[in-house]
Amino acid sequence: MNQSNLNLLKSQIDIDNLPKHIAIIMDGNGRWAKKRFMPRTFGHQEGMKRVVDIVEASTILGIEHLTLYAFSTENWKRPNTEIDGLMKILVTYIRNELDRIIENNVRIHILGDIAPFPQIVRDEIEKAIGETKNNNGMDLNIALNYGGRAEIIKGIKDILKDFELGRINLEDIDDQLFSQYLYTKGQPDPDLLIRPSGELRLSNFLLYQVAYTEFWYSDILWPDFYEDKLYEAILDYQKRDRRFGGI
Ligand code: IPE
Ligand code: IPE
Ligand code: MG
Repeated sequence: MNQSNLNLLKSQIDIDNLPKHIAIIMDGNGRWAKKRFMPRTFGHQEGMKRVVDIVEASTILGIEHLTLYAFSTENWKRPNTEIDGLMKILVTYIRNELDRIIENNVRIHILGDIAPFPQIVRDEIEKAIGETKNNNGMDLNIALNYGGRAEIIKGIKDILKDFELGRINLEDIDDQLFSQYLYTKGQPDPDLLIRPSGELRLSNFLLYQVAYTEFWYSDILWPDFYEDKLYEAILDYQKRDRRFGGI
């Protein structure tokens, strides 16, 4: 899309009705590479460039929370070479982008358990969290070794621990309290969930948080997901009538 069409599209967005929280299942890297007779990792590399673009576009637009699904608890089923490639790409992303992320006042959070990741990857992630923790612009949540079910089970265990320690009573446990035991604690539920690549499923993403989230699907593969697609999704979201069970 050329710049003037892009500006036209962007100008249609109602800035007063932006989704506060956008979540994206970044899918289709492998198929994008396969179409080009290239290894899957090539698709992940191109996908990383779209992460840079979409993070930038989201901060400029004024999105408050952006959650990106980068590696699921089920993705360990993939060949080691692909997993290694993804880890390297993650490290490269942080090394290349941290300065710009800090400049843009973005705060990095990780959703998921990174303990099984190689030390070098964890060091890089911890550094990114530490160096951005005082920023107060957009929250960038990166879901790594994330699974919605694992998150809910962890929440239940942590609640039980606090119950045993006498920190909470049974009557205290409600929707709001439970949210504080999830990786997204302190952040609103996603308003908009975007899934490219043509798959119409959640793949274990934010199971608890998406109760009233608006979905937007597209056949486009993630490496082709330029900022115009983000604007399209937001414009579509702005036409929705969110009733939350009301009339
Ligand atoms: C990227 O897309 C998602 C990750 C797990 C990193 P895929 O690697 O799932 O690509 P497809 O779905 O096989 O095309
Ligand atoms: C979901 O994509 C996980 C990420 C995007 C990180 P998958 O490619 O793993 O999902 P399935 O296997 O098609 O459901
Ligand atoms: Mg996939």
